[in-house]
Amino acid sequence: MGQEELPDNQADRVDWVIRAPDNQELRRRYDIWAAQYDGDVGSVDDYLAPLELAKTATRHLTPDMRIIDAGAGTGLVGEALHHEGFKHLTALDFSENMLGIARTKGIYTALHQCDLSQQTALDADCADALVSCGTTTQVPYASLREYARLVRPGGKIIFAAVQGTWDEFGYADVLTELESAGKLRVTERGKPFQMMPTTEPQFICEIWVMDVS
Ligand SMILES: C[S@@+](CC[C@H](N)C(=O)[O-])C[C@H]1O[C@@H](n2cnc3c(N)ncnc32)[C@H](O)[C@@H]1O
Repeated sequence: MGQEELPDNQADRVDWVIRAPDNQELRRRYDIWAAQYDGDVGSVDDYLAPLELAKTATRHLTPDMRIIDAGAGTGLVGEALHHEGFKHLTALDFSENMLGIARTKGIYTALHQCDLSQQTALDADCADALVSCGTTTQVPYASLREYARLVRPGGKIIFAAVQGTWDEFGYADVLTELESAGKLRVTERGKPFQMMPTTEPQFICEIWVMDVS
């Protein structure tokens, strides 16, 4: 399937998916990129966001919790969480091939292919926590409403997001809406760090923690 369309170098491949003109094309590009994604961004020496997110999770979550990884991709965040002792992990993503790679790692108890810009088939309050890493530039902001539905009252949402994308991609407005409705509250904004210090040093990441009511 369209492997010849994949740009030749890593930086161009990142750019190629970010610049997909619509949701359907984005999914198609991730399906094409899936087999090479971990080789391009999966280095634990470079892609620090999953590790930092997992460290933050250890301060706010307990290993018995049911955790959704939204926009799980090939499971890099799941691997980092699993390494920290979290075992009840559900992966959600709309790219079948990205999920296919995640499945081979054997770290998720469930994997669902779904479009997070819409309400999913999962039950309300089905998770104790939801994490999402590197998705704010791509997964539409409406997903935040769905995340608040999926996590039970008293649960947590933890985002690792590139600085500035929160406002640029409309998440800030939905957050204000959910805060006004008493559904979400930001409790922590972590210290900014370089998300990929070697390959994409310009991407500065922040980890946000929210309480769900
Ligand atoms: C940059 S990757 C991040 C993957 C993983 N969280 C990581 O940190 O390596 C973004 C992921 O979001 C998924 N995605 C983008 N838009 C989506 C949508 N509307 N619904 C579900 N998944 C989506 C893509 O398929 C891709 O796997």
